[in-house]
Amino acid sequence: MDPIKNPFAPGAGTPPPELAGRDDLRETVRIAVERVRQRRPAKSILMVGLRGVGKTVLLERMKEDAEASGLCTIKIEAPEKRSFPALLAPQLRQLLLRLSRNEQAQELAIRALRALAGFARTLKVKYRDIEVGLDFEPEPGLADNGDLELDLQSLIEVVGEAALSAGTALIIFIDELQYVAEIELAALITALHRAAQRRLPITLVGAGLPQLRGRMGHAKSYAERLFDFPRVGPLSEEDARRALVKPAVEEGVEIQPEALDRIVEQTQGYPYFIQEWGKHTWDEAKASPITVEDVVGASKQAIAALDESFFRVRFDRLTPTEKRYLRAMAELGPGPHRSGDVSEVLGRKVTSLGPTRNQLISKGMIWSPSHGDTAFTVPLFDEFMRRIMPGDDWRTS
Ligand SMILES: Nc1ncnc2c1ncn2[C@@H]1O[C@H](COP(=O)(O)OP(=O)(O)OP(=O)(O)O)[C@@H](O)[C@H]1O
Ligand SMILES: [Mg+2]
Repeated sequence: MDPIKNPFAPGAGTPPPELAGRDDLRETVRIAVERVRQRRPAKSILMVGLRGVGKTVLLERMKEDAEASGLCTIKIEAPEKRSFPALLAPQLRQLLLRLSRNEQAQELAIRALRALAGFARTLKVKYRDIEVGLDFEPEPGLADNGDLELDLQSLIEVVGEAALSAGTALIIFIDELQYVAEIELAALITALHRAAQRRLPITLVGAGLPQLRGRMGHAKSYAERLFDFPRVGPLSEEDARRALVKPAVEEGVEIQPEALDRIVEQTQGYPYFIQEWGKHTWDEAKASPITVEDVVGASKQAIAALDESFFRVRFDRLTPTEKRYLRAMAELGPGPHRSGDVSEVLGRKVTSLGPTRNQLISKGMIWSPSHGDTAFTVPLFDEFMRRIMPGDDWRTS
């Protein structure tokens, strides 16, 4: 069928034609942020889930929801090698400049810009990647101790006061939160805790890989009480069907029930895979309705496309030793697996593989659902590893 009309949208952070199965989470966040706006207690929400389940697009949609109801937002994506203060500072500056144009908020917004200037100037010594325009002179003693935990707390407090005086709330959205360094996470948690104690209208909505929950608890033991960690998982069968049917119907195309069943089965409800199968099935089909033969014909292309993009980009970031570790895991199936079993496949001691396992965790490739267990963060990665490293050579190389 006409590829120009193809509604499906595989890609990192690419908005889907139908955001299926996430209404409850959106409502949870809506309630939390509205409570924050009314200065009522609410936990910050950190959504955790595997690669490709739709965290980024969900976060973006929640940001749009918040803006539509008149809240202030900023959004940060934490890449692996930037400091959190460097990511936060320019976003806050823009927000505060906007707030400073609001008559009621002007005075406090300018004070917050002074705090930001002190914050950026003193912390630049430690976090050299901070690049932010300084619009006002620092106020001596305000967020300028040179200690991230203290200064972030002061900064967040004055920003919260500015938001309060504008009659709004600030929602900070952070994606890939698991990449933020532990001391930076600790400082962020402290700052949010302080803001919550003062009932300031400022909160965090974050997303990350499943290891985020443990990292937060490790950074500050009381984090578990401050945050909710809803899981973002694969779609239910019903939602998966909807994610496929609705966009097709909107283009006047039907999908036969057996064809739908087949896609749901092959994708196991994982959003990224649903988009990929949807796209290739559409391109394969000659006309509506889409049949099970179309799906069968498209599966090869869908898998090839995943191998070339979704899986490949992750594979290419691995060292040979890391690849071998993941290949050994894949040998055991989808997982989770005991570290001891993985080392046995490799004929090595568990302790000697510890560093490799840790590197893989910090790269976000695997995580530990419970002590001593290891699981992939990328759905169906075991099958990919067996495809890309077939045979037995990897055992000896
Ligand atoms: N609820 C949904 N229904 C249908 N498709 C979805 C849904 N959520 C996401 N998708 C699709 O899944 C793909 C992946 O989405 P996204 O990049 O947000 O995932 P992610 O969890 O952020 O992945 P990563 O961990 O790799 O960053 C996109 O192509 C998107 O259009
Ligand atoms: Mg993402």
